[in-house]
Amino acid sequence: MHEIPTKDLFLWIADIQNSRKDIDDLYILLDLLGGISKSDLLLLKINSQEKVYLKIDFLSLKKKWLEHVQLSKPIQYVCGSSYWRNFKFDITSDVLIPRVETEQIVEIASDIVGIKEKKIIFADLGTGSGAIAISLALKCTKWKGLATDIDINALQIAKKNYKKFSLNSNVNFYCGNWWKPLTHYAGMINLAISNPPYIPRIVYERLPSSVIDFEPKKALYGGEDGLSHIKQIILDAPKFLVKGGWLILENHFDQSKKIKNLLRKYGFDSLKTINDTFGIGRFTIGRYK
Ligand SMILES: C[S@@+](CC[C@H](N)C(=O)[O-])C[C@H]1O[C@@H](n2cnc3c(N)ncnc32)[C@H](O)[C@@H]1O
Repeated sequence: MHEIPTKDLFLWIADIQNSRKDIDDLYILLDLLGGISKSDLLLLKINSQEKVYLKIDFLSLKKKWLEHVQLSKPIQYVCGSSYWRNFKFDITSDVLIPRVETEQIVEIASDIVGIKEKKIIFADLGTGSGAIAISLALKCTKWKGLATDIDINALQIAKKNYKKFSLNSNVNFYCGNWWKPLTHYAGMINLAISNPPYIPRIVYERLPSSVIDFEPKKALYGGEDGLSHIKQIILDAPKFLVKGGWLILENHFDQSKKIKNLLRKYGFDSLKTINDTFGIGRFTIGRYK
């Protein structure tokens, strides 16, 4: 631990507060790297403590902040980690920063099948940091998870995160194109979840540089209309799902209707759009007949 005068920390924070809008990023940095949460800061103020203890030295913390500011590098990549649900996931430039709107997918999945349901095999297609698969496997400990990704480096991160959080071995990781590495499980999967790359070309080209320059294109770009990966996933789903098995997809704000049509075409019913916490039709679900 690195001891510094509390006033030095508050002066630095105030300095940044006066000059920038992204003060929330500073709080994330202080929490993820410094080990000081927002509520710790409040307590420091209330208790007028003279000293504060940081997990890294103050100079290194300041350098990390400059890296964020000067390069417009997302603070999560600067820190090498990101909070998602109750967990602090390790991340690198090989994986997407898991988004807050995706958190809901874990509840959608566990509610749809019922948490007490035991012999469930679920697949998380395009697992990235492993956020969805790991959270579901920790919530539903009797379930068996199959997590896939096309990117071997992303899978290494997902495996590392899994080891960090779980002593169980109820998730296996596979590298390959969507369902392809799961041939052994054809016709056996009860539930498949995917937050695939779904950003249409025009939208992708206009994303801010903090996204384009740092987040993996293969995690975001969904082709001309954004639906190219979603189409592949739906097309092959009937080979892998059990009859009555569910598919849950995250999508762009305006894609759900088209996705429902595709699902209908490939043998799904019980189609539904589910809004995210911002009121956007972010998830589309269907049941294989
Ligand atoms: C939007 S990110 C989602 C990551 C993570 N599931 C999450 O929600 O934060 C999409 C993921 O799909 C992976 N991916 C892209 N194309 C793929 C493919 N053809 N087959 C399997 N995974 C793919 C990317 O590498 C990336 O990790």
